[in-house]
Amino acid sequence: MNGKTVAISNTIMTELVMPNDTNPLGNLMGGNLMRWMDIAGGICAARHSESFVVTASVDHVSFSDSVKVGEIVTLNASITRAFNSSMEVYIEVFTATIPDQKPRKSNHAYLTFVALDKATMKPKLVPPVIPLTEEEEKRYEGAVRRRELRLILSGRMEAKDAKDLRDYFNKL
Ligand SMILES: CC(C)(COP(=O)(O)OP(=O)(O)OC[C@H]1O[C@@H](n2cnc3c(N)ncnc32)[C@H](O)[C@@H]1OP(=O)(O)O)[C@@H](O)C(=O)NCCC(=O)NCCS
Repeated sequence: MNGKTVAISNTIMTELVMPNDTNPLGNLMGGNLMRWMDIAGGICAARHSESFVVTASVDHVSFSDSVKVGEIVTLNASITRAFNSSMEVYIEVFTATIPDQKPRKSNHAYLTFVALDKATMKPKLVPPVIPLTEEEEKRYEGAVRRRELRLILSGRMEAKDAKDLRDYFNKL
């Protein structure tokens, strides 16, 4: 299967934070942001694999900065690496106020999507990723360790011993 570059499936999604998206303090609810991250990441993975995809896992997401009603949220989803049927997608979130429009980074996360065959609804092979830039190369290399860690944490892979886990954390 021919590889595809990161740029081919890069997905940028922009949302305006409306009152309905916020909590009583007027801040964007974390669950709404995660929903948008899931959609942007899912579109990116679907574009790369040219398939239906499902979300298999969401890595650690932290909210360091609140996002206010009326702000503009931009999500940038890029595939980092494809394995067999699974794809890791890196999503960065930027927020800007309408008057100055200077974006500030709000958070980021890695999500994993699995491509499904339309007829059988079983996982199907996806094209490899061709990293081109230094940043893409770095994320591509790191994806193997992140995948191992999330498979261990989800009980799908056994850590051979505690030293393995320490190494995983040190290299993240
Ligand atoms: C994700 C899913 C398709 C995996 O199906 P499965 O029968 O376990 O298939 P496999 O064991 O062959 O795994 C398929 C791939 O998923 C990956 N995977 C499975 N669980 C994972 C997890 N928790 N985190 C990361 N990757 C995972 C496997 O590593 C494998 O990747 P690879 O093919 O690149 O090697 C299945 O668990 C599923 O449909 N889950 C529900 C998805 C969903 O509905 N998401 C929305 C939540 S509301």
